[in-house]
Amino acid sequence: MSADFLAVPSASNPPEKENMANQPDFVPGLAGIPCAQSRVCFIDGSQGILQYRGFPIQDLAASCSFEETVHLLLFGALPDADALKAFKSELAEARALPDSVIATLRTLPKDGHPMDALTVAVSAMGMHFQGDHVKDEAFRRSCAIHLVAKLPTIVTSWHRVRQGLDPVAPRADLGHAANFLYMLEGEAPDELAAEVVDVALTLHAEHSMNASTFTGRVTASTLSDPFASVASAIGSLAGPLHGGANERVLETLRAIPDTSAEGVQKWAEERLANKDKIMGFGHRVYKVKDPRATILQGLATKMFKKLGPTPIYDVATRLETAMEALVGAKGIYPNVDFYSGIVYEKLGIPTDLFTPVFAIARVSGWLAHQLEQLDGNRIFRPSQIYIGDRDQKIQA
Ligand code: COA
Repeated sequence: MSADFLAVPSASNPPEKENMANQPDFVPGLAGIPCAQSRVCFIDGSQGILQYRGFPIQDLAASCSFEETVHLLLFGALPDADALKAFKSELAEARALPDSVIATLRTLPKDGHPMDALTVAVSAMGMHFQGDHVKDEAFRRSCAIHLVAKLPTIVTSWHRVRQGLDPVAPRADLGHAANFLYMLEGEAPDELAAEVVDVALTLHAEHSMNASTFTGRVTASTLSDPFASVASAIGSLAGPLHGGANERVLETLRAIPDTSAEGVQKWAEERLANKDKIMGFGHRVYKVKDPRATILQGLATKMFKKLGPTPIYDVATRLETAMEALVGAKGIYPNVDFYSGIVYEKLGIPTDLFTPVFAIARVSGWLAHQLEQLDGNRIFRPSQIYIGDRDQKIQA
């Protein structure tokens, strides 16, 4: 067979005019097309406003733990003191993994990406939770709790297993963020490290109809179970244009040969002239600086005061200044990924775990959307604009 079957219509090979008649407009990337009515998250990208269920992200980051944020996202309200205590212990009790899931992790190639290990383990976990999540509300709630509780255990267990170490069993007396850091290294973290991860998780917990949330909602709309919905969302988050960007920001910053202000400016000019995408900048929704990037930058400086400066942070701020002058007018500013990698690296989190940390947080948003999708569900089934040939005859 010739490679012609791969040919796609282009300016020099346009589709037949008649095929395009009476067709709706094609919107690449579904940009700006609403696909749900949602109460979970509000964003005003022109003003840099982000709210979870009506609460500004700045207030949640300053005053609420990640567990409170998860409660808000999943159940629609911040918990009172008693409800929070009960919710935290429910999460803590659900942290351990079935032995068979750990055994599955041990079979995977040790040089594989942690996001792939996460997908495998979440799918395997689903086999331990069989039931009717659509009709049984208590079961659905239990699946959600187990998913939020177990993702950090999967990520840290994988990280240990791939190094030939035994996983560290979770500690029920630690909060979600502190326990994650504990399971990673086997040592309880100090207060600042736990606080920084807690805030970072809150900042990444939810972000309306992004690619992974949309993916998860599409899967949920077929009435697939929450584990399948989350596994598909993880696959979507892994890509470099979405959650995978945070890993690449550090690579980008390290690739700048001359890190003086002039050198950084020149490097950015060359990249932009070359039409390269600079990781950690730009957003489909925000046309100003992502409010989460501002909060993360504050966390970074707080850490540097205690742990000492990180030269790469200075390169980052120079790049931000250069980019603002070069493409600020186009609405291209730092997004959430720009400073998160710098923060995680300072905490000693390995680079290829940055996106899994994103998933540990975002699972709460995915599940909030999954629950919302089931309420008055209609299966997603967009249309397409067919631009191929028609009525072809097979040559004898
Ligand atoms: N660096 C340089 N230019 C960028 C840019 C970036 N990071 N992001 C967008 N642009 C430019 C594009 O080149 C394009 O310019 P043009 O109009 O001259 O062709 C314009 O801005 C629009 O870009 P587009 O890719 O169409 O925007 P989008 O809304 O489809 O994409 C992202 C949004 C996030 C995928 C995109 O900004 C990107 O790839 N950023 C880098 C990856 C990243 O950090 N992702 C994490 C997102 S939280």
